[in-house]
Amino acid sequence: MTPLHDPPRLAFFVSGRGSNLIALLEAITNGALTATPAVVISNRASAGGLDEALQRGVPILVQHPAKYISPHDYATDLLRMLHHYEVDVLVLAGYLKQLPSEVIAEFAGRIINVHPALLPLHGGKGMYGHHVHQAVLDAGEAESGVTIHLVTEEYDEGPVLAQERVPVMAGDTAESLAARVLAVEHRLYAATLSTLLDSLK
Ligand code: GRF
Repeated sequence: MTPLHDPPRLAFFVSGRGSNLIALLEAITNGALTATPAVVISNRASAGGLDEALQRGVPILVQHPAKYISPHDYATDLLRMLHHYEVDVLVLAGYLKQLPSEVIAEFAGRIINVHPALLPLHGGKGMYGHHVHQAVLDAGEAESGVTIHLVTEEYDEGPVLAQERVPVMAGDTAESLAARVLAVEHRLYAATLSTLLDSLK
């Protein structure tokens, strides 16, 4: 596998609110994370964080997987973009599409994701956002948390890099639990990504 650039070049993948993207860009700006934000890729033009990325001079690309003639064309185009921006590591930050297997194979060990629960609990297909926190409440768990993991072909099953517990409070709603978990995500994601980049040097 090719050595990382110095500093490593990151591609961020977003679909939703974009708060993890903004937290990571901020960590790069304030020196807590040594990396170059090479490109932000989203499947939604209206995803959060895209304006902030542009303001920081980071190129953004909107790519709709469903608009390609075949999954192979989509994978080829995505790889072309990643090569063009000389990307070393892929950072999924609330990205709701599955990466093509060609991309996962080429960047094996270099794709990281954040999940808002203690995997292997409350993961897998369909378990994102509100659904995750509601499942934690429905199961009567006393705690939830954050998992940062490497991405493999199996949804939410890649090797865990870091986990941190977050208490479930009496009277929590999915929204109040999500907010408590999200604050931990923002801190833990930057720290864990920094450790991963060091380990890949
Ligand atoms: C986060 O809770 C993250 O764990 C999950 O999706 C959510 C994305 O939030 N994968 P944001 O778009 O980063 O604000």
